[in-house]
Amino acid sequence: MRRTSSILSTGAYLPSRVLANAELEKMVETTNEWILSRTGIRERRIADEGEFTSDMGARAAEQAIELGGIDPKSIDLIICATCTPDTIFPSTACHIQHKIGATRAAAFDIQAACSGFLYALVTADQFISSGVYQTILVIGAEKLSSIVNWQDRNTCVLFGDGAGAVILQHRPGARGVLSFDLGADGAQTEILSIPAGGCRVPLTPEVLDQRLQFIQMSGKEVFKYAVNAMNRSAEESLEKAGCKPEQIRWFIPHQANQRIVDAVAQRMNVGLEHFVINLDRYGNTSAACMPIALHETNMAGKLDRGDLLLMVSFGGGLTWASTVLEW
Ligand SMILES: CC(C)(COP(=O)(O)OP(=O)(O)OC[C@H]1O[C@@H](n2cnc3c(N)ncnc32)[C@H](O)[C@@H]1OP(=O)(O)O)[C@@H](O)C(=O)NCCC(=O)NCCS
Repeated sequence: MRRTSSILSTGAYLPSRVLANAELEKMVETTNEWILSRTGIRERRIADEGEFTSDMGARAAEQAIELGGIDPKSIDLIICATCTPDTIFPSTACHIQHKIGATRAAAFDIQAACSGFLYALVTADQFISSGVYQTILVIGAEKLSSIVNWQDRNTCVLFGDGAGAVILQHRPGARGVLSFDLGADGAQTEILSIPAGGCRVPLTPEVLDQRLQFIQMSGKEVFKYAVNAMNRSAEESLEKAGCKPEQIRWFIPHQANQRIVDAVAQRMNVGLEHFVINLDRYGNTSAACMPIALHETNMAGKLDRGDLLLMVSFGGGLTWASTVLEW
């Protein structure tokens, strides 16, 4: 029988600074009404200048460690999902390892944009099911405010900063991750990307002038692709787990846009009351969305042992990911 992995505890961290739509009205040509009606976002959190992805990741990790009642030195592996690393290398996971004193842990980052956390969770699940590791810290952390073009109203209204974390372990009797689906379409790299800053387009004064170091997006194309990919992936994970949508207590979708969530819910024929939504308060925090939403659901006492959850995400790459897990 497969050695299962299940979530022992969760944690999250959101910077205290709130950037509301009204403030964005003073920065770009937009209105609260436009942002709210097209996205459902009211406000987002913005990290301080000296607060980095690893700081937020470490705060979320410390909470998960405390709630799980474990010693950081018992952690075998840290996987951090992020597309806003503190440094290209060392990995953000290494920075976090030092900050939380997890001196025994191996550490690496995963980059699958907004699908990153589920890619990381599934990777951690493999290490546990193979019997190699017992305790893994999985983090999604982002400082998207550092890669947003604050002059571009098409994108700057959408994103926010934050971090979430889970401790994954094999626990006898707990079924945990039941199924997953990961996918990518590398033919669609152009519709959501940061063109410069890698070896393809090195940073030069001209490139910086063109603001190519920031997120570029074809919103409408991404929207359509997101709805289709999230639906397909969710169905795939449900089928692999042998579950019907009506057995799922909580659907945790990527928190990109309320209209994307509405369309996914409608196609799955599931009422919105079964969907966890916090995008109105945090916007899209990319790889951090899933663990933050999971942690808030957990802290609200809305998770009982045996509950089935479906988490489904979508992001640049393009990538998508989903999992059905038993709490
Ligand atoms: C970005 C998004 C909200 C735009 O909504 P939309 O319904 O596609 O937008 P519309 O086509 O109705 O409107 C576009 C118009 O609004 C304008 N607009 C864009 N952002 C605006 C803003 N913040 N305020 C006011 N107007 C804005 C555009 O310039 C465009 O104007 P034009 O028609 O004169 O060129 C939507 O496409 C979206 O959410 N896409 C997915 C993005 C996403 O989730 N990315 C991350 C994936 S992980």
